[in-house]
Amino acid sequence: MAAHDILSFLISGEWVSGEEMAKKLAISRAAVWKQVQILRQRGYEISSSTGKGYRLTKKIDLLDADRISRSLKTRWLGKDMRIYDKVSSTNAAALALVSSYPNGTVILAETQTDGRGRLSRPWASPPGGIWMSLVLKPIMPLNHVCQINMAVSVALCRALFSLYGLNAGIKWPNDLLIRDLKICGILMEVGAQVDRLDHAVVGLGLNANNDLSQFPAEWRSTSLAVELGHDIDRCDLICRILEEIEVAYENMGSNEILKEWRSRSLTLNRQVRITSAAGDLVGQAVDLAEDGALILQIGEQQKRVLAGDCIHLRATPAGATVEGR
Ligand code: BTN
Repeated sequence: MAAHDILSFLISGEWVSGEEMAKKLAISRAAVWKQVQILRQRGYEISSSTGKGYRLTKKIDLLDADRISRSLKTRWLGKDMRIYDKVSSTNAAALALVSSYPNGTVILAETQTDGRGRLSRPWASPPGGIWMSLVLKPIMPLNHVCQINMAVSVALCRALFSLYGLNAGIKWPNDLLIRDLKICGILMEVGAQVDRLDHAVVGLGLNANNDLSQFPAEWRSTSLAVELGHDIDRCDLICRILEEIEVAYENMGSNEILKEWRSRSLTLNRQVRITSAAGDLVGQAVDLAEDGALILQIGEQQKRVLAGDCIHLRATPAGATVEGR
């Protein structure tokens, strides 16, 4: 019995007695109370009253595998879907069983306890967000792997625009920003033979209805709920995202994806600082190569950068540069 079962009783927003839930789930009332405590710790607001039972005060849309699979119009992506109530990291869960998962398997979680961001940073994953990993097994040379990221970020932008009219921009390598605030991050973890990709697990963290109040201000984050002024239906959005990703993935490496990535780029034509294990580079971002490398103009030289942390620099009237997002 998972806390998820209790949530499915409370989702209506009406009072539900502890006794009724205990009876239907064949557990004790003390076990119901324990699961309610777990849900509260995860951020769900649940009132309790003697005689009335429990009530979810803030309605949350649960990730519902049946609803998603009924609406999903993909041919292969998400046909195999696992939804966890709570997991350490959907990427870790996908990688742990990657060899047994077919291409297109999707792993989702309501919350992650050890969500992973790029460059070994932690990723906060409270309830209400979209924390999702895709298992992809394309036949492609290893040096084309960034094309997956490009296709996925373009697909995410298309999904946000088509459902909500929101125009997200892409900060190299693959952050999605709205009003210069981060709404989505992508973490791809790959396994490979010497020169051939074996699998890629693409993890998407998208702030949807989740509370941002515990996020440190320096993360400069936003969410769909903040941008739109209301919560969104996560199941609908997941379907649209998967549909757009399937289309973009089948078009991966095409001029169309590259062109759209460039036109949505917030990094091109800016002064940037790229920090990587090899050190810092400061230059003008002049282009994105087909393989996903950022082309930097540094004085008379051009340099290709394939990975690193990117900071957009801003010029001040006094001629100095300061760091933006
Ligand atoms: C970034 O640093 O911008 C990338 C963040 C990626 C977060 C997602 S949430 C789902 C998946 N599981 C994880 O542990 N990380 C990714």
